[in-house]
Amino acid sequence: MRSTVSPDSLARLDAQHHLHPFTNHEEMHTKGTHVMTRGEGVYLWDARGQKLLDGLAGLWCVNVGYSCNEIVEAVHEQMRRLPYYCSFFNTTTESAIELADKISAVAPRGLGHVMFTNSGSEANETALKLIRGYLKLRGQSKRSKIITRKYSYHGVTLATTSMTGLSNCTEPFDLPLPGFVQVPGPLAYAADKEKEPDAYGRWCLEETERIILREDPATIAAIFAEPIQGAGGVIVPPAGYLRALCDLARKHGILFVADEVITGFGRLGSWFASELWNLEPRRARAGEGLDERLSPRSVRRWCAMRSRTRLSTAVIWRMALLTADTRRVARRGWRICG
Ligand SMILES: Cc1ncc(COP(=O)(O)O)c(C=O)c1O
Repeated sequence: MRSTVSPDSLARLDAQHHLHPFTNHEEMHTKGTHVMTRGEGVYLWDARGQKLLDGLAGLWCVNVGYSCNEIVEAVHEQMRRLPYYCSFFNTTTESAIELADKISAVAPRGLGHVMFTNSGSEANETALKLIRGYLKLRGQSKRSKIITRKYSYHGVTLATTSMTGLSNCTEPFDLPLPGFVQVPGPLAYAADKEKEPDAYGRWCLEETERIILREDPATIAAIFAEPIQGAGGVIVPPAGYLRALCDLARKHGILFVADEVITGFGRLGSWFASELWNLEPRRARAGEGLDERLSPRSVRRWCAMRSRTRLSTAVIWRMALLTADTRRVARRGWRICG
């Protein structure tokens, strides 16, 4: 929708009625809100007509650029045909089925089931609940702690903020909740070890194992890790670190979850970053960033059924089936999730 309101009036209205995430409102209202009005390919235009190269791809989610015609048309067609239906209670839509099939075809080996969510935070919440349900069914309810790393970002709900390793996200809310344990993240620069990142990575692993032993491995459910830590500073892991972290989890019977909310769907040159580091998930893998700019037809059609601009999926695998065995109904899911 094109606004007929002038840039100054838009900024005034914004200040009056609109709360932004991750924003210092006082500063923004003094300087004036930066209003975007148009996007095409890798470029954005703001309300003053300035053209900008969008280096971050939205907030890590505009994988194929803005205003792709094929997608616009598919969204339009789907909105006319069936704008919404849910997947609760034995029901679903053609698009959700086709999209799950397409994602399964490109997901790393062994991950053949998909549960859709509206955001990365919900994808991680879903993973947390599936893991709890799965371990309960296996008689391992004692395994309830979750390990994440310093500088990690896993979302902003109550539980996913507790997983996030950034103090500016946790401190204002007195988080993390009990049961969320933090281990070092491999950011050599912050530890004044930038000249020896591999050695620092090895120290992080040793420290992680020390913390696992301190907490008692039998009480730990899962380790969540972003292959590349995005919001924490685009931290590329040192050689061998990620695979070793995955192996460490397995050694102690802990599930390893790769949070690919911003590294999935081709962002790094392969469908999923886990493939780049040979992580071979055996049990669990969480959230993949998926938005309306992906090109396969079924993806577009499914996305077209949402009025939201940012969509995500949780690739959930066998655990979903285990927690939803034939006698029980898996009581989780969102109305707006395919
Ligand atoms: C790795 C990772 N996980 C989870 C999230 C949360 O996603 P959302 O903002 O869609 O809730 C993000 C957001 O950028 C992320 O980078």
